[in-house]
Amino acid sequence: MRKKVTKAIFPVAGLGTRFLPATKSVPKEIMTLVDRPLVQYAIDEARAAGIKEFIFVTSRGKGALEDYFDHAPTLEAELEAKGKTDLLNVLKDTYMESGAIAYIRQHKALGLGHAVWCARRLIGNEPFAVMLPDDVIAAETPCLQQMVEAYEETGGSMVAAMEVLPEKSSSYGMLDVSRDMGSIVEVKDMVEKPKPDESPSNLAVIGRYILNPSVLNNLNHKKKGAGGEIQLTDAIAEEIGKEGRGVFGYRFRGQRFDCGSKAGFLQATVAFALARDDLRDDLSRYLSEIKHIDKAAQ
Ligand code: G1P
Repeated sequence: MRKKVTKAIFPVAGLGTRFLPATKSVPKEIMTLVDRPLVQYAIDEARAAGIKEFIFVTSRGKGALEDYFDHAPTLEAELEAKGKTDLLNVLKDTYMESGAIAYIRQHKALGLGHAVWCARRLIGNEPFAVMLPDDVIAAETPCLQQMVEAYEETGGSMVAAMEVLPEKSSSYGMLDVSRDMGSIVEVKDMVEKPKPDESPSNLAVIGRYILNPSVLNNLNHKKKGAGGEIQLTDAIAEEIGKEGRGVFGYRFRGQRFDCGSKAGFLQATVAFALARDDLRDDLSRYLSEIKHIDKAAQ
């Protein structure tokens, strides 16, 4: 029996400069898709996959993120007094069990690998998940849950994977595949942000990982990689070929939105709003109207 994956690391130390000026005072992870913060989507996905301990790697200025997970007794009492049960339930869905969340500071922005390494003492010797909240994945079966199921078969380390346009390779970790078994692929190399003509394939790493704890040891060397940063991709690549471990890519079923970019964030906002009963009709009407206006203008 494999050890169950019960811990997840959420690297949320980034400055979110692409969303300035908003991120001057609001952590990017608190920005909302419709009415729920980005981070809530990641938490819900983690919970569905059986995660019980949530480790946030933060930085200065992320106080609002920590507050978000607090209980809100005054607000609760007010909603109760007014009989607003629906809103009370919305609120309660965000509550976490006491002691289930830990915050670790990344004191210097040295890269994603370094952020994950900062949480090493809370992980110990068991497999763990890493979730990048910028990658929002809409799926019938939540992406991390799909991966946990696949991981039961493969063991080793596993990264979520998706085909991207060749010219986009320099935005991702890219996989070199030795065996393609459909949804699962065996990886023989991985490269962080290669130029299109140097990329081994079009299969990119998306921000969901299940990692063997030995990846944390690999990060001990603090070796700098692409962009002069300590890269998680490089530490995972060190696992390739090790007896009983290995690295696998998992082609998840679902739609991924890159909420680290403005266009991706807007697309996700529209898609999630269209999925909601209370917003669908008004929004679709509006979207078809602007399509007409746009056509008329041409
Ligand atoms: C990170 C990883 C990269 C991965 C990407 C997925 O890059 O370093 O390997 O493909 O997330 O979103 P970032 O987007 O943080 O630059």
